[in-house]
Amino acid sequence: MRSSLFSAYISLLLGSHAVSALTSYANDFVDPDFILAGKFGNNTLAAQATIRSWAAELAGQGPWTVMSKAVAPPNGDKHDYMSWAPYWWPDCSGVGNTTELAPEQIWKECKYVSRDGLFNPDGRLINDVGNFQSLSDAVLYNAIAHSFEGTPSSSYSKTAVSFIKAWFLDPDTRMNPNLNFAQMQRGPTGQTGSHTGILDLKGMAKIASGIIILRKGGNTDWTTDLDNQMNAWSKEFITWLETAQIALEEGHADNNHGTFYYNQLAALKIMVNDNPGALNVTNTYFSSQYLFQIKANGEQVRSRPLEAIRTRPYHYRAYNLAAMITNARLAAYAGDINVWNKTTTEGATIKTALDFAMTIPASASKETTYTTELYPSIAAVAAVYGDPGDKYAAFLQKGAAYAVEAYFLWNQPLAGGEAESAALTAAPSITGTGKNAKATGVGENSALGLSWSWLGVVSAVAAGVLTL
Ligand SMILES: *[C@@H]1O[C@H](CO)[C@@H](O)[C@H](O)[C@H]1NC(C)=O
Ligand SMILES: *[C@@H]1O[C@H](CO)[C@@H](O)[C@H](O)[C@H]1NC(C)=O
Ligand SMILES: *[C@@H]1O[C@H](CO)[C@@H](O)[C@H](O)[C@H]1NC(C)=O
Ligand SMILES: *[C@@H]1O[C@H](CO)[C@@H](O)[C@H](O)[C@H]1NC(C)=O
Repeated sequence: MRSSLFSAYISLLLGSHAVSALTSYANDFVDPDFILAGKFGNNTLAAQATIRSWAAELAGQGPWTVMSKAVAPPNGDKHDYMSWAPYWWPDCSGVGNTTELAPEQIWKECKYVSRDGLFNPDGRLINDVGNFQSLSDAVLYNAIAHSFEGTPSSSYSKTAVSFIKAWFLDPDTRMNPNLNFAQMQRGPTGQTGSHTGILDLKGMAKIASGIIILRKGGNTDWTTDLDNQMNAWSKEFITWLETAQIALEEGHADNNHGTFYYNQLAALKIMVNDNPGALNVTNTYFSSQYLFQIKANGEQVRSRPLEAIRTRPYHYRAYNLAAMITNARLAAYAGDINVWNKTTTEGATIKTALDFAMTIPASASKETTYTTELYPSIAAVAAVYGDPGDKYAAFLQKGAAYAVEAYFLWNQPLAGGEAESAALTAAPSITGTGKNAKATGVGENSALGLSWSWLGVVSAVAAGVLTL
């Protein structure tokens, strides 16, 4: 599992200048119909400017492909996705070698032992996971930014389409539709992927949002031919997700891994125009794992033994909430199904879980670097359930000037944003073009500046921490 909501406070403290407003939410599915309707309030102008700047920044980082990794998977095919189990370290004491081993020998011959929470830095030799996460954000934000333009084609859509082609479709660089080597275990008893690695591709929900925005919006860069190719790829991958042993195991995981598995599968089914199939997937989640994930008081059950010994409860609450909310949005999109009032066996809802999570500050478990991870879920709950008395808005305001965040755009109605948009509309560089105002130059930069000051997320999205 991967989370990139890391505060920049660390890099600021270290005096690093590599600070960026760009952040990567744990997951989300942004309703393409809402985006394409384009009926955004003026209070969202700052959020729109942020989305444009994130789109442009990510455009400069890609394209990404599975071919760029320095090491091939055990079958020799770099087209296969690969990541290494992040907390496992070699113990070569039993090998009996008389000289130092080459890295390739270590990976195969030494046994690997777990040091939970301690990231083995050689995992950086292979960054398929970080690259896919960057891709998923690049596709989402460039598709949304394209929709602001009100044109059949734009530099944003060209970027999104070329990045999708590079990762999924071009014969020279495409990813094979499987995760056989995801979070792979090394050593003599390893060399295969583990079910936890399925999580690596949770960003398919963002990619599905982006592709459907392009497709339904009549974008001319996203041709019928590309759409057909992407559907063919997705169908193959759906089959893998529904038949491969490790994928089925992930689908049965009772913690966030299970929740995210359904994000990915439902999003893919929506993408291939199988809405009944997608609903089937979300229904399965809401009538199985979900029922046991939230206790009466809103605390989330994290029942795997491995997680019981862990010390990041704030992160895991926020992380699973993002996945639950994504499943709820996918169900709403696929079949107009409202699961927001769906109760667990103990009578709790997604809102109960969020309300509980808000009562325990990240500092209680020394997780202040994860503080902002909960914010998109707070906005989502406020927008869906309502926010009488502005309880959620006030909570967000305590942490940050949230109306400049990208998520503010698609979590409406939510109080706030007027002051920021007033500042933006006052800037001379803001022009009203097409269906939405367009922020460029000074306006865009000022929005970015606001984001920096409060979000302050490290630029190194791709260098985020891997966890199981
Ligand atoms: C948004 O701002 C513009 C320019 O100030 C104004 O003309 C327009 O009526 C506003 N729209 C809404 C929905 O308030
Ligand atoms: C065996 O290889 C390991 C890994 O390179 C190394 O740490 C160790 O020193 C080697 N043993 C000897 C006796 O050289
Ligand atoms: C729903 O899932 C069940 C069990 O996996 C399957 O048998 C059925 O065909 C699915 N229905 C649809 C519409 O996909
Ligand atoms: C939950 O149910 C109540 C009572 O039926 C309803 O008023 C409310 O709108 C529902 N909330 C959501 C988010 O669907």
